Formats: sequence, structure tokens, C-alpha cells
Amino acid sequence: MDNESKYLLYKGLLVPKICHTPESLKYAEEFCVRDDDVFAVTYPKSGTTWMQEIIPLILSDGDLTPIQTIPTWDRMPWLEETRAQLFLDSRPSPRAIVSHLWYQHMPPSFFKSKAKVIYVTRNPKDVIVSSFHFHQMATFLDDPGTFDEFLEKCLTGKTFFGKWTDHVKSWRTPELKDRILYITYEEMKQDLRAAVVKFSQFLGKTISDEIIDKITENCIFKNMKQNNMSNFSLVPNEIMDSSKSEFLRKGISGDWKNYFTTPQNEYFNSVYQKEMKDTEIQFPWDKE
Ligand code: A3P
Repeated sequence: MDNESKYLLYKGLLVPKICHTPESLKYAEEFCVRDDDVFAVTYPKSGTTWMQEIIPLILSDGDLTPIQTIPTWDRMPWLEETRAQLFLDSRPSPRAIVSHLWYQHMPPSFFKSKAKVIYVTRNPKDVIVSSFHFHQMATFLDDPGTFDEFLEKCLTGKTFFGKWTDHVKSWRTPELKDRILYITYEEMKQDLRAAVVKFSQFLGKTISDEIIDKITENCIFKNMKQNNMSNFSLVPNEIMDSSKSEFLRKGISGDWKNYFTTPQNEYFNSVYQKEMKDTEIQFPWDKE
């Protein structure tokens, strides 16, 4: 498949054709958000799959059935992807949904609802490294080329869902007030238990310490990697070639240091600082 035929252009963003169609995008636009829907929103490669493990476990009060029997993509479907319409309308509340959409691309009903959002941000340098490997293994994405070429594509928004900076800035809106909880991948790595407690409180769930421990244990990287419903081993090799990279690859913070050369790092920093300078947002990696 040539690169051009791998993506649809949706509101200026490249979205992979394998799981996005005009119908699925129309479905997302017309979607009726319920007040008790729970969204986890991410820029790709920021911890979406992780949230697809954690949130269903919180909503099920630690019952492992959903994570042991339903693949991530059906357990907590992407609003904009083809499988959403198979499940979401008939699913009982509270529904757990993920999305890579920018804030302004959410359906009109979202803005009128009280649905809650957990927005996960990851160090964009680690996002690029993770995405680079993902582009090597996912046959439905374009060939990333060299790391240098891929970095340029990311910085100019020529990868799926556009620029990281635009995505992150779009969701830093005061309009959502206490309907949105911001967290970083790095905070989750540092203290997953504290993140699980934070999510539970945000979602109004009272969960015992014992269940919090159980959820945390199930969601640590090495345990998630063992879960065939979450590690993408169900996806045929023609779609995700695990000989090139694993989907649950390293699951660490700071891997960028193994990939970025000093000039690439300086170049990235200059573009990043320019694009983020008008925002109040401070991330832990800004001080690195
Ligand atoms: P790496 O490629 O750096 O390992 P997404 O789900 O948004 O596509 O993000 C995938 C990234 O999240 C991958 O990063 C993956 O390993 C990481 N990830 C998934 N589950 C994780 C977990 N339980 N702990 C830490 N990282 C996790």
C-alpha cells in the first residue's frame, strides 16, 4: 500500500484508514454523549492502552472480567474508530471511551454534557520515539524513514492526529472546568497507585485500599504485557509486525535520550519552546 492510500484527511488531520472511515467519523460527530460517560483523551502513544486497562477496572470495582475477556479496543473503544458504533449506543452507563480527537473536534453533545475527561500527556520526545517504533511495526501507517526524517514529520504535524503541541493546547481549555483531570504518563510511571486513587476520586468511585492495590498490580507494565487482551498479540502480524517492534515496547520514561542526538534535541527544543511559549502550561520535562 502506498503512503497516500493509508490515511484519510479529516479536518486537516491524517487519520489511518484501517480504523477510520467517513462513516466512523460521522458517527463520532453525531455521537450522543451521556452525562456519565468517561473519556480518556490522548495524543497517540501517550498511554491510551494503559488507560484502557485502568479505567474499566475502576468502573468494574476491580472485577478482572473486562480486562481478561475483552480486547482493549472493544473494552474502551475509540470514539472516532470503526468499532465504536458496534458497541457504544447499547452499552450501559457509565461508558468508557477513548479518543485522539482534538478538543474542537469533539461532537456537539460533548460540550453540552457533564461527561468527564482524563487527559494524559506524555513527554513529546518519548512520544516520538514510541511512535517511530509503532510506525515501523504497523503496516497501516507510513514508513517512518530514518529517525531524523520522522522527527521532522512529527514537528511539522505530518503524522497521525497532527502536532503534539496543537493537540495538547487544544485540551487546555478553561471551558471544561472540573470536568477534566490532567495527568502525565510520567506521574503514572512514578506512582501508579496514586494515579489510580486520583482517577477513582475524580470519577466519584469509592474503592477499598485492597481493590486499589489489585487494580494497580494488574496495570503495571509487566503484568499488562502478559494480558493477551491488552498486549495486541491478537492482531495478525500482517497488521502489526511484532518482529519489528512490540506494541507494549519498553513502557519507560526518558527513552528519548537513547535516540535524540544533541542537534536533534536542540532543534526539537527550539520548535517546542516557540510553540508552547504563549501557554501557561508547565510540564516536568520542561526543566530537563
Ligand atoms: P513505548 O513504545 O515507549 O513502550 P498508546 O497506548 O497511546 O499507543 O501508547 C503506547 C505506549 O504506552 C507504549 O510506549 C507502551 O509501552 C506504553 N504503555 C502501555 N501500557 C503501559 C504500562 N502499563 N506502563 C507503562 N507504559 C505503558
